[in-house]
Amino acid sequence: MREVDPAARFHPMVLAAQARLAHQGGWSRMLAGEPLEDDDLVDAELLTAAGVLVRDGDAFALADPDGHHHDPMDPMALASGTIADLRRALRYAQRGGVGWTGEDPVVVRAQGRASSLAADMIAEQMGAMPGPHEAFSAGRGRFLDVGVGVAAISLRMCELFPGATAVGLDILPDVLEAARREVADRGYDGQVELRLLDVAELGEEETFDLAWLPQPFLPPAALEEGLERVRHALRPEGWLVMPLNVPTRDCSFEKALSEHSSHLLGGGPMSQDEAERLVASVGYEDLTWCEYHGLSLLLARRPEVATVTRLRGKVTGADRTHGGRRLGEEHGVVDPAGARRAGDRC
Ligand SMILES: C[S@@+](CC[C@H](N)C(=O)[O-])C[C@H]1O[C@@H](n2cnc3c(N)ncnc32)[C@H](O)[C@@H]1O
Repeated sequence: MREVDPAARFHPMVLAAQARLAHQGGWSRMLAGEPLEDDDLVDAELLTAAGVLVRDGDAFALADPDGHHHDPMDPMALASGTIADLRRALRYAQRGGVGWTGEDPVVVRAQGRASSLAADMIAEQMGAMPGPHEAFSAGRGRFLDVGVGVAAISLRMCELFPGATAVGLDILPDVLEAARREVADRGYDGQVELRLLDVAELGEEETFDLAWLPQPFLPPAALEEGLERVRHALRPEGWLVMPLNVPTRDCSFEKALSEHSSHLLGGGPMSQDEAERLVASVGYEDLTWCEYHGLSLLLARRPEVATVTRLRGKVTGADRTHGGRRLGEEHGVVDPAGARRAGDRC
């Protein structure tokens, strides 16, 4: 028998079968080891042929639990995320452009729901970030959610860490309006604050314990400026979490797919080496890579005193900041070689 073509799992009908199964209950029954019938069985057979599931008699199981973009153990997140992927693909086929415009409320909500997984990942990694760990465990953690969308990550953080507060930034008024409704409906008005603000204009100083900065959605100039603004906005010993759109497996098709979507989403492709150099040049330390459901995440600490070496633009010297104030010009090179590399999972 021929090996499964790795591209098969991306066939539109395979994704559609996965989304339908997850949305209509068959995926949960499959995870529970229950037998499937009718359309559920037909979908599961297609997913088996595509290498998404494996079959053992009447039961089906995940072929590769870590090889999913969306959490396969959370059927609703899997359904929403896959439906959002399909809608974006359809929009691209019909009109070109899949940049995040917030035009399609279904995509906005679905993508939001799928992204709440990021908060679970952050919770899982909390032990590797002592400052935030202490603050969030004590019920006083303050979270900065850049590109807040419909506030799914912020809301989940507040759910996971009672007493936590969050500030979400976004540049799309309609998306923020949807976020406001979501926050109010879930009863978190007092805890999640939403601001119509570009991260490149954030002016806060030493306020947050933890910041989420999604590279795939931020144009390079906004990312570069945003990294610096976020560093100022973090408390000393606060941490940055930056997801990167790079395949976590050595597969040329997945690499091409992630480069394609990086171009279209706004952030552009960025390798782990480039991300490390950029983040270190802005003065973050203790760079650590994690992998979570096919996503690469860079964790980095904002030190008490940051040594900064700009990589681009006219400024080539380093500056030192302390307490958010520039203390003077000094030269120095931050060597990111000390970063714990991908695969050193935290
Ligand atoms: C994929 S969405 C985030 C989804 C989000 N986690 C949720 O729960 O819905 C990325 C968001 O980043 C926002 N964004 C893009 N550039 C930005 C910038 N420079 N500053 C702040 N937000 C930005 C976009 O408007 C978009 O809503």
